[in-house]
Order: sequence, then C-alpha cells, then structure tokens
Amino acid sequence: MNARQIRERVQWLGVIDWNRRMFDALIPIPDGTSYNAYLVQGSEKTALLDTVDTADVATLMAQLAHVPTIHYVVAHHAEQDHSGAIPAVLQKYPEAQVLCTPKAKELLIDHLPIAAERIQTVADGATVSLGDKTLQFIQAPWVHWPETMLTYLREDKILFTCDLFGAHFATSALYAGDEPAIYEAAKRYYAGIMMIYRKQIQNHLKKIQPLELDLIAPSHGPIYNNPAHILDAYRDWTADGVANHVVIPCVSMHGSTNLMVEHLIGALADRGVTADKFDLTVSDPGKLAMALIDAATIVFGTPTLNMGPHPLVLAATHLADALRPKLRYAAIIGSFGWGSKAPDTIAALIPNLKVETLGTVMCKGVPKADTFAALDALADSIAAKHAALLAPPPAAPVVV
Ligand code: FEO
Repeated sequence: MNARQIRERVQWLGVIDWNRRMFDALIPIPDGTSYNAYLVQGSEKTALLDTVDTADVATLMAQLAHVPTIHYVVAHHAEQDHSGAIPAVLQKYPEAQVLCTPKAKELLIDHLPIAAERIQTVADGATVSLGDKTLQFIQAPWVHWPETMLTYLREDKILFTCDLFGAHFATSALYAGDEPAIYEAAKRYYAGIMMIYRKQIQNHLKKIQPLELDLIAPSHGPIYNNPAHILDAYRDWTADGVANHVVIPCVSMHGSTNLMVEHLIGALADRGVTADKFDLTVSDPGKLAMALIDAATIVFGTPTLNMGPHPLVLAATHLADALRPKLRYAAIIGSFGWGSKAPDTIAALIPNLKVETLGTVMCKGVPKADTFAALDALADSIAAKHAALLAPPPAAPVVV
C-alpha cells in the first residue's frame, strides 16, 4: 500500500495486516488489523507520528523513500506494533528526535535499540511548531500502557490516538464512515484491550471534549471521519451503568451442567432478564469479552474435573477477571460425580471483579427437582437485584 493523502501535507503510511488472526495471543481478531503511521509536513519541519510493527519495517521505509527529512518521530506508545520501526527511521534520518512522554522514553530504551540522546520528552499540553502546522501533545496514560499520549494537529483538527479508539480491521478504505463491521471490530478491540482502563478512558474523553475534531486517526483500523460515532460508542461502553443481562460462560462434559444452564436461561427469561450462553468448547473469547462490556451478572457453569472446575472454565474465569468488566453480581452453577471444590476455586480466581456473589448451585449427577428449584431461586435473586439496580431514582419532591 502506498502512502495516502488525508489532508494537505498529512499522509497515512503503514501496513494493512490482512492475515493476522490473534492479538497478544489472547483475543481472536477475525478481520485482521493495520498499523497506521502518519506523516505531517509543515512549512518548516516534518513529523512522523508512530511507526509500524517490527515485522513490517521494510514497508514503512519504502513509503518514506521519497521523504527527504524527518525532524520528529512522535511515539505515542512504546509497544512494538507502533514503535518497531523507530530505530530504522532514526538511522535513515540522523537529525530526527523522538518526542514522547517521560515514561515512554524509559520504555522505548527498554524495548528497542534507541539511544537516550535521540529522545526528547514532552509535557502534557506542550506544542511543537512545524511551521504552518502545530502538534499539541495530550498525555493520556493507560491506553494501553502507562506511557501513552495523543497528538492534536490543530490546523487540520485531527486527533491522533494510537491504540485509543482503534479497531483491528484490515481494509483498503481509508475512512470508517458509519460502517457497522468497523463498529463491531472497535467494540471487540475495546472489550479485549481497553475495558480494563475504563475509568482512565472516562477522564480522557472529558479531556478531549473541548477539541474541535474533523478526524480521529488511530493506529489500528481506518480513520474516523465521523468522530462523533466512535466517541458516542466509547461514552456508552465506558459508562458506569449496567444492563439487565447475564453472561454465562460454561462447559458440560456429560450434559448435566448444560441442563442447568438451559434451565437458568429459561427461568431468567421468564423474569425479564436476558442471557448469553458461551459454550467454551466452541465460543469465541472476543464475543465473550464484548458481552461483558455492560452485563450486570456473570454465572459460571462448570462440571467438575479432578475436584476442580473444567480447565476451559478456569481460563474464562481468569479472562473475565483480567478484563475487569463492570459486573455487579456473580454466581456459580455446575455438577460433580462424587465431590467438588470447583466453586471455591472459581471464587478465589476473581479478585478483580467487585461483585456480590449471589450463590452456588451444584448438583451431584444429573439435576433433579431440587436442583431446578435452586436455579429458580437463583433466577429470582438475579432478577430482584437487577430490578433494584435499574430502578429509576425516586423523583425529587416538588417544592411549591
Ligand atoms: Fe497497538 Fe498497545 O499496541
């Protein structure tokens, strides 16, 4: 892919990675991804904003073949999918300085062969003039490491956000428009990468609120030419409220746990509560992560294997705990042949979920009437808790 013009003397550079299917060896990315860099050429100086993955250095260097000078390399984030080509760029342009946060300087030196004297740190709100274009730096830690920042190109009203607002989505289209598939990819990306930093992102959204924005240009996926679309989505996903919804990651070995899960889903539906069942032998962890964005309750469903939870449930439990969704309640259901410590093991694996536990329903062998009655009681409890959570606040007294 050749360099592409976004605005006058502002270009997209980078790599479209059509074939990548996993990120961080954790969440599937069915639509591939891209590593976007941006070249901003002012009347006096030129800046390169981010680079590309270490594996794709040659592609970026070919795109820079006809760029005579780069004065600044802005490193929003030290992770190698964006910083991987910085050493090659610094070698080609001996006058170039890296601009980044103080924390990013430390991390860049840790991760890449970059000499400290080639790196200049910038403060929150600092500006650098390129002549007729101005870069304004906005510190925005934890999207998705502690060193991250954004850059606002004032004259063109473009906010460069690196990982923040990204989408793992390979396309030759430069702009996202209101394409539903890109919204879905951005939601999957938020769930898997950004959700843990929900509170920090709430602050970042407030911080960028005053900026006039024509474009939001992330370093994964297409550019948002309707910035309100992705900003509204992020406000929705990061909001403190939860939905009247239950997520049930589960496995069944001989069918007992599955009977219990199906009964619970029906009982919840009878009480006006929706549920998503994720059979972990076939489910996509990305879909599970997306369902956790606003669910109020998680119910783990597990058979017992060697006294503990099934290993796939263990993995899903750890994933849910690591992503730190805004869940309020949890419960554990399942089955065993002669004995089980599965509920204790699962309960000990979710220290980051600030949830109230609504109980455990475990059955020996196949579920019988008492098991189904206990599941009905659990559904009652979930429905009552959700109703209390979602009830509108009492109206203020009318003063006459
Ligand atoms: Fe796209 Fe955190 O790197």
